[in-house]
Amino acid sequence: MLLETIFSFMFLYVLSYSQKNDIIITGPGLNPIEIVMPARYFFINFTHINSQSYTPKLNKELVVEINGRSSDGKHCRVWVNKLDRKDGTFIVRYKIYETCSDLSIHVYYGKKEVAKSPYKFKGTIYADQCNCPEHQFQKWFKNYGCKDTYGQIKKDLKPFHNINMKEELQSIIKKYHQPESTSFCHYAIKQNKLYRNCYGKHVGFNMFSDNILLSLMRKVKLPDMDLVINLGDWPLVHRKDKPLPIFSWCGSDETYDIVMPTYDLTESALENMGRVTLDTLSVQSGAEIVWKEREPRAVWRGRDSRAERLKLIDIARANPDLFNASLTNFFFFRDKEAQYGPKQPHISFFKFFDFKYQINVDGTVAAYRMPYLLSGGGMILKQQSPYYEHFYSQLVPWEHFVPVRRDLSDLVDRVKWARDNDDKAQQIAVNARNFANNNLLPQNVICYHAALFWEWSKIIKSEVNIEENMAHVPQPSVTCNCKPEKPNTHEDL
Ligand SMILES: *[C@@H]1O[C@H](CO)[C@@H](O)[C@H](O)[C@H]1NC(C)=O
Ligand SMILES: *[C@@H]1O[C@H](CO)[C@@H](O)[C@H](O)[C@H]1NC(C)=O
Repeated sequence: MLLETIFSFMFLYVLSYSQKNDIIITGPGLNPIEIVMPARYFFINFTHINSQSYTPKLNKELVVEINGRSSDGKHCRVWVNKLDRKDGTFIVRYKIYETCSDLSIHVYYGKKEVAKSPYKFKGTIYADQCNCPEHQFQKWFKNYGCKDTYGQIKKDLKPFHNINMKEELQSIIKKYHQPESTSFCHYAIKQNKLYRNCYGKHVGFNMFSDNILLSLMRKVKLPDMDLVINLGDWPLVHRKDKPLPIFSWCGSDETYDIVMPTYDLTESALENMGRVTLDTLSVQSGAEIVWKEREPRAVWRGRDSRAERLKLIDIARANPDLFNASLTNFFFFRDKEAQYGPKQPHISFFKFFDFKYQINVDGTVAAYRMPYLLSGGGMILKQQSPYYEHFYSQLVPWEHFVPVRRDLSDLVDRVKWARDNDDKAQQIAVNARNFANNNLLPQNVICYHAALFWEWSKIIKSEVNIEENMAHVPQPSVTCNCKPEKPNTHEDL
């Protein structure tokens, strides 16, 4: 009798233990005190389910509730968004609109709390708009979950030592200030306040560089520094010239420009669950159909910004069983519209994943859609290119994408290869998404900027002066009760 009781007790224990443990919940959104983001996020993994055994019931039964208290004692405003990857894993995003305390995250499956739910947080949880910077950069960097090493940053900063920014700025203005063709801004950060002066005719894109700098400075006190950010797509500082320090969104094998995550990727991180609807998280639930039901053809849409894009149309027309590609706009080759047109309406980016393979051909520079293609869960055929974004050096051909010659001469063979090697093609798609989830999510984008600006600040030897022609770029005016900084911390001395 006793033995029986022990056995049944053990059985019950084992059952509930395993039920609890085949659901894994992880991610930076489970650390909302330290990791302030425009939209926080975490992952739920039903480890015993995959895309074959997935049913929509899973999504229906999974409920996430997030509650907290605002400063006036009422419920604080939180918006929750659940993304179903249809493979037994989910992304949960939540946006906090005001300072919250006593936040709790509840994850229910079939009305029962699962994994370690509820997750409760004692402490102040800031909205992203709160200007409450942590004063010790390295402490913040670690607590934010940033990686230790960034190879591209190391490579980009290598030519620069003991920089006197006053001199460099004069050289940059002298060499690159051509108002019709280039636009750039000189930024200065002093006592965690932002100032800028822009040069050139088209400076509207400074809203993107303003946004990321201000966003970072609300989270952590940045050291004093000056920097010049190029607002155009083309990198500027040719290898045959003296290396002048200019930060650009696109790098190339022929230039010295210091690469930052593109304005597109950065904005999609900062406007997550806001103005931007396509980002490296949302695209993961966009595909309507699973891999094996997708069309085994390569899809492409875009404008006519490079000759190879016209060539792609020729190839696609000659091989309609392998491709679905068309131009959506004519601007650079208007004279060829009769031949390559008529222009086709845009299709939703999410529709790209009705097809197994997606093509990435350069536009004027690197095609900034790469992060969304990697996250989307298809197999990428990428044109070889001298242009790169901040993460390309970490991508491995045949592991994360299938390389295609710059002149596209092997594109047809590559698509045929993918059709003949479906398992390998699917594995490349899986690897690509894993890469994106380790390197291209909003947390990674914020960390990359932080690491870059921190390393850069150490290279500047000149004092930062706010010149008369510089305008103060203010933080949004939001009232938050910031926690008092601990006095006499190391970096205050
Ligand atoms: C979910 O967990 C399983 C088991 O640990 C793992 O093999 C799988 O890669 C995870 N899925 C995702 C999308 O992280
Ligand atoms: C190409 O794809 C679009 C979007 O899915 C579809 O509407 C169109 O019919 C396809 N064209 C061909 C020729 O398959």
